[in-house]
Amino acid sequence: MKRLNKTLLAAAAMMAASTSLASAAKLTFYCSAQEDWCQSMARGFEEATGIDVNMTRKSSGETFAQIKAESSNPKGDVWWGGTGDPHLQAAEEDLTEPYVSKMRGELNDWAISQASSAADKTIGIYSGALGYGYNADLLKANNLPEPKCWKDLTKPEYKGHVQMANPNSSGTAYTTLATMVQLFGEDGGFDFMKSLHKNINQYTKSGSAPIKAAGRGENTIGIVFMHDAVKQAVSGFPIKVVAPCEGTGYEIGSMSIIKGARNLDEAKQFYDWALSAKAQTRALEVKAYQVPSNKGAETSPSAPDLSLIKLIDYDFKKYGSSAERKRLLKKWDDEVSVLPQ
Ligand code: F6P
Repeated sequence: MKRLNKTLLAAAAMMAASTSLASAAKLTFYCSAQEDWCQSMARGFEEATGIDVNMTRKSSGETFAQIKAESSNPKGDVWWGGTGDPHLQAAEEDLTEPYVSKMRGELNDWAISQASSAADKTIGIYSGALGYGYNADLLKANNLPEPKCWKDLTKPEYKGHVQMANPNSSGTAYTTLATMVQLFGEDGGFDFMKSLHKNINQYTKSGSAPIKAAGRGENTIGIVFMHDAVKQAVSGFPIKVVAPCEGTGYEIGSMSIIKGARNLDEAKQFYDWALSAKAQTRALEVKAYQVPSNKGAETSPSAPDLSLIKLIDYDFKKYGSSAERKRLLKKWDDEVSVLPQ
């Protein structure tokens, strides 16, 4: 009898364990910010909730393409980070889910206007200005003058010294393309991209790669978000950060819940948590110096001060629309990327 009881108890324990395994809460998290920040957000959410997170980091344009390709059988639950334009395009193409978080009251207006322009299918989580950074040692070693403006980067002396990402994969590079069109007009913007192309040594997949390469001394100038250049400088690399003289564009880094998410409740829990001041303050641990969307999140004195930068009135509605993003990328593929260097 005793033995039978023991066997029954063991069987019950095994059943309980397997049920709890089967129902263990989990979240599939697509992330388009820097790898270390993505890891920190995944671990932070796991610690806060006990929910298992499976995180994949890909650039903004790549993640958009993946969510679109998976739309008949969605695998991701939440997409956090990356420039706002592809999040807006995903909203327009009905790839993401509307959600009004109880955290909205704590956010800056610019974060909410991102949501309002997309029927609540996305929201702003941070913002940051576009610019470039250069390796001051390499610039000196090559006897190059300090660049100050966008147009400086098209001068022949910088040939082979400039790196940027491919605008198809990278939100940073798409923001660059859209910024030039808004700063210099459609023809002027494409003329700029064509002249710049002659000086480009490589189009990378990820937006921040050009400034990481500059930090390592493998590239001289990287066109990136200014906060990504500051991160290299603060980490001890000889990087100088430039806010270009003509003015510049900026991003509203965004977050969206994927339509058909298998773990919708967990996705909503992540969404609310990611909008909290505490979660957004984690950015400082990985030297991510974007402007947080939660008004209560801590910021660093090293972060670029957007109020001191000449920002254009970036038209997110237009440049985040499906038709315009597709058109600009095709035009860049057809008219810029194919040119000889
Ligand atoms: O986390 C750094 C960052 O520059 C973000 O500010 C931005 O949203 C994202 O990376 C863009 O990355 P990518 O250009 O690779 O899409």
